[in-house]
Amino acid sequence: MSDSKVYSPGSEFAKNAQIQGMSAYREIQEHAASDPAKFWAELASRELTWFEPFHQPLDWQPPFAKWFVGGKINACYNCVDRHLLAGRADKPALIWEGEPGDERVITYRELHRLVSRFATVLQNLGYKTGDRAVIYMPMVPELPIAMLACARLGIIHSVVFGGFSAEALRARIEDLDASIVITADGGWRRGKEVRLKPAVDTALHDLLGVKHVIVYRRTGSATELKDGRDFWWHDLERHLDDHASVAQAAEHCEAKDLDSEHPLYVLYTSGTTGKPKGILHTTAGYLLQTLMTMKWVFDLRDEDIFWCTADIGWVTGHSYIVYGPLAAGATVVMYEGAPDYPDFGRFWQIVEKRKVSIFYTSPTAIRALIRQGDRWPEAHDLSSLRLLGSVGEPINPAAWEWYHNVIGKQRCPIVDTWWQTETGSIMIAPAPGAVPLKPGSATLPLPGILADIVDSKGEPVGNNREGYLIVRHPWPSMVRNVWGDPKRFVEQYWSRVPGSYFTGDAARRDDDGYFWVLGRVDDVMNVSGHRLSTMEIESALVHHPAVAEAAVVGKPHEITGQAVCAFVTLKQGDWSREKLGDELRQWVGREIGAFARPEEIRFTDGLPKTRSGKIMRRLLREIVTTHAVTGDVTTLEDLTVIAKLSAQHDEE
Ligand code: PRX
Repeated sequence: MSDSKVYSPGSEFAKNAQIQGMSAYREIQEHAASDPAKFWAELASRELTWFEPFHQPLDWQPPFAKWFVGGKINACYNCVDRHLLAGRADKPALIWEGEPGDERVITYRELHRLVSRFATVLQNLGYKTGDRAVIYMPMVPELPIAMLACARLGIIHSVVFGGFSAEALRARIEDLDASIVITADGGWRRGKEVRLKPAVDTALHDLLGVKHVIVYRRTGSATELKDGRDFWWHDLERHLDDHASVAQAAEHCEAKDLDSEHPLYVLYTSGTTGKPKGILHTTAGYLLQTLMTMKWVFDLRDEDIFWCTADIGWVTGHSYIVYGPLAAGATVVMYEGAPDYPDFGRFWQIVEKRKVSIFYTSPTAIRALIRQGDRWPEAHDLSSLRLLGSVGEPINPAAWEWYHNVIGKQRCPIVDTWWQTETGSIMIAPAPGAVPLKPGSATLPLPGILADIVDSKGEPVGNNREGYLIVRHPWPSMVRNVWGDPKRFVEQYWSRVPGSYFTGDAARRDDDGYFWVLGRVDDVMNVSGHRLSTMEIESALVHHPAVAEAAVVGKPHEITGQAVCAFVTLKQGDWSREKLGDELRQWVGREIGAFARPEEIRFTDGLPKTRSGKIMRRLLREIVTTHAVTGDVTTLEDLTVIAKLSAQHDEE
């Protein structure tokens, strides 16, 4: 990948950018780096609305950080109520478009009303600060409404992406010991209903901890409600209106005074073991950094229409559909369905219709759209766009150029944003208008973010050398813990380089100090910008009665970046491999979710292992990537296995 092509910021954009030029930006960065805690504390005092001020910027007992100690705050209040007082009551907060074409525009005043009413519903059912709610919903406004209502009361929410299976949902409900599930009958995707409530019923089978299930009616299909446990969202709201005094009080359900470090949400992400990790984010620091990155990275103005195409079930949706933009008082576009429904022009039709000015999507989506040709974007007026964003994986130069030329018409800077579920918000990205762009590089760490690249001993590697990407100083939106598993938190993130956060990514820095993120160094794959664990898919596969062993690796894929490839050995028996391949793909879909289904299943007689019995995925990765095996294989127990696997590939 070449670093030589540099794009100066579009001159029109640069003229009006909020950060004026590289030297101004360097100054902010140097000021921040000289005392990061003080830097963030100044911003926190200025940018957030506090019920009680904090008295200490940071309490850092590595690896446990507490930001803005002693402060009292409420995330929902900061995302909703304060905008009513700031003259934004009639400003649209959410512009929502359903896949079938239905639409809703919700102003900040209306959002306040809807959130307050739903918070009252939760309160009336007996839920309170510290309880856990699992939210399993399609991309309808009631999803952010439910999240904000939880935040209003201090209920810790955990959104589970609607594509996850009943099994995966159950595992998360159990891990959190959640007492309520908020869901819907279903949602629309590619013209078909994706049912959700039946998966909740399966997940809750004989699980006693969940007292209530609230079901939002989206599709209207026949839905069974379990007596005493399940309630329609609209029925519970209607009950509020039975008594005028209750209805009136519900319009103003009070936002609770919560500690800065009160847990805001837990979001599960794949790690290097079979069990997903519950990433814990807390209130004030998370809110501050998602808000500041809206300003620095997206150059947000009051008049902007901001559209992030992620699903709220992933961290990108949490931070850049809900908390960041709403804390900033922005107008957010939210779309329920698929980018190719009813045709490949859907994204561009929405951009034109809603006059989207900032558009944030993934390289996978861009590559899928490139394949359909330029006629789709060319059929629409995209002149409202002024800034484009990318997230989830490195953006390859070809996709970057297309995004820049065909979508941005060479007017719009592209912000390539590197971050993770654990970082909570964007960490490495250009300040558009100030930082010159290089396709494929996320450019520079943001102010107050002390990122570095080190070798296996934790020593900085110097320019143009590959190493591990780490973060040296705590930052406000950092993961605080792994839910219920502090040991894993310490081991996973804080043990490789003492005192520093280990990202699990490889990167190098060029002579201009630009960061080039190269991908994961652990057993985590990145498929369509979603993180998948090899171990999680492997343990799903070995649950199948026919499977003896399984090893999963990511293989390069033109559209999705990586695709799941599973090597499988079978137990004794009379199996039809052809049928079994399909069956195993479905099986993984049922155990985890359709998005985790292997693209390819390869049956083999044995797997390459070290003498101590560990599967050498590195070799399998080489087979699917370069179709050959190089490197050190001296620890292999059975070298013939590799020879067979390689030969098998050559025959294909
Ligand atoms: O490998 C990096 C890649 O995605 C991982 C984080 O995945 P997740 O927690 O699911 O969050 C995705 C959205 C923030 C990282 O460890 N990644 C994310 N953004 C980029 C990226 N790799 C390169 N460039 C990016 N802009």
